[in-house]
Amino acid sequence: MALDSYPASVTLRDGSTVVLTPLQPSCSGALLAFYRHLPEEDRLMLRDDVTTSDWAEGFLRKVETREIISLVAKAAGKVVGEATLYRTLHGWTRHVGEIRVTVAAAFRRKGLATALAAAQVKIATDLGIEKIIVQVVDNQLAARRTFEKLGFHKEAILPHHVMDVAGMKRDLIVLANDVSQIWAAMEAANQDYAPHLG
Ligand SMILES: CC(C)(COP(=O)(O)OP(=O)(O)OC[C@H]1O[C@@H](n2cnc3c(N)ncnc32)[C@H](O)[C@@H]1OP(=O)(O)O)[C@@H](O)C(=O)NCCC(=O)NCCS
Repeated sequence: MALDSYPASVTLRDGSTVVLTPLQPSCSGALLAFYRHLPEEDRLMLRDDVTTSDWAEGFLRKVETREIISLVAKAAGKVVGEATLYRTLHGWTRHVGEIRVTVAAAFRRKGLATALAAAQVKIATDLGIEKIIVQVVDNQLAARRTFEKLGFHKEAILPHHVMDVAGMKRDLIVLANDVSQIWAAMEAANQDYAPHLG
């Protein structure tokens, strides 16, 4: 089963360790605290307002129905990263999943987003998802780079599809990858991103 191997520890590039674990209802306060402490410029570019209790309740409901698989990274009891796999359980995109990932400012450039994204790719594979997409705004360069390094490629650009809080319109870039190919390529290329089970 997709989540049987969790919790799993990951050693980051600086030698520190975080634990990846599926989001539990009891973690919702810690998840909200994580999102509320993100740098404002990052938070405002996320698709949803992730700072409200309403958002957290709706998110947890979808976790319970397994429409969403949420993995959180924890260090010293705090959430320091989160990756979400979205899927539709019925209909013509039931073979497609979408990943989003966010990492706390203090934990960036240590490989955590790569580890979280790779873990979600593995979960998607186990769930039978065949294609994964990632939607990034044109100025989310770090996110784009993270997924391109995992083998995702630009599949579509939707011009002026996003309006930020200041009313500025930005292009939405859809990155995509075929799950079987990406997982095989990641396994062949490098084991560093893989969670160490335990
Ligand atoms: C995007 C984000 C998740 C990356 O997290 P991270 O843990 O720092 O990412 P990683 O350490 O795994 O970096 C992976 C690669 O992305 C690229 N990258 C990451 N941050 C970068 C930055 N600030 N500038 C340029 N490239 C960057 C690098 O190529 C990096 O590999 P390298 O360090 O070996 O060179 C993080 O910056 C974030 O939370 N941003 C705000 C939220 C967001 O944009 N989410 C995307 C929604 S899908």
